[in-house]
Amino acid sequence: MRNVSVLFVCLGNICRSPTAHGVFEQMVSEAGLQQYITVDSCGTGDWHIGHSPDKRSASAALSRGYDLSHLRSRQINGNDFNQFDYILVMDQQNLIDVQAMCPSDFTGKLELFLDYANNFSATKEVPDPYYGGLSGFDDVIDLVEDASKTLLSTLQMAVSKNAQP
Ligand code: 4NP
Repeated sequence: MRNVSVLFVCLGNICRSPTAHGVFEQMVSEAGLQQYITVDSCGTGDWHIGHSPDKRSASAALSRGYDLSHLRSRQINGNDFNQFDYILVMDQQNLIDVQAMCPSDFTGKLELFLDYANNFSATKEVPDPYYGGLSGFDDVIDLVEDASKTLLSTLQMAVSKNAQP
């Protein structure tokens, strides 16, 4: 087995990427792969550094069985591009912002998270729920759960001894 690491990125790191972080971390744990798959999240912006996830995200997640209470917001930094194997962003603007700071050697690590989605493949962006109604926070979880299942299968192959390089 080898180790792989995943970084989820959004704008504020208080709604979408912490939701992805908490949901995917739990799926990794349930698959017994927490030793091999490292999960983290961050934001492109600096407004919420050190803050807990937005209360609306935390309560939507908890009602679906995911605890986000251990997470704190941080901003993306230059070391992340070297450190993480998969850098998965929530929307096109995140991709533009992250590409602008990413050394050219590492741009292959950058992907839209919803490139892994099956049921919701028509939309490639996780919509920012911050200024919207409560249903937007549930919608984030639907999208994140869908993409996380495919991501987990992909990483299960990546960590397996028999995976092709
Ligand atoms: P997130 O949502 O990128 O999903 O964490 C946002 C949170 C805060 C702000 C924008 C988006 N904000 O402008 O403070």
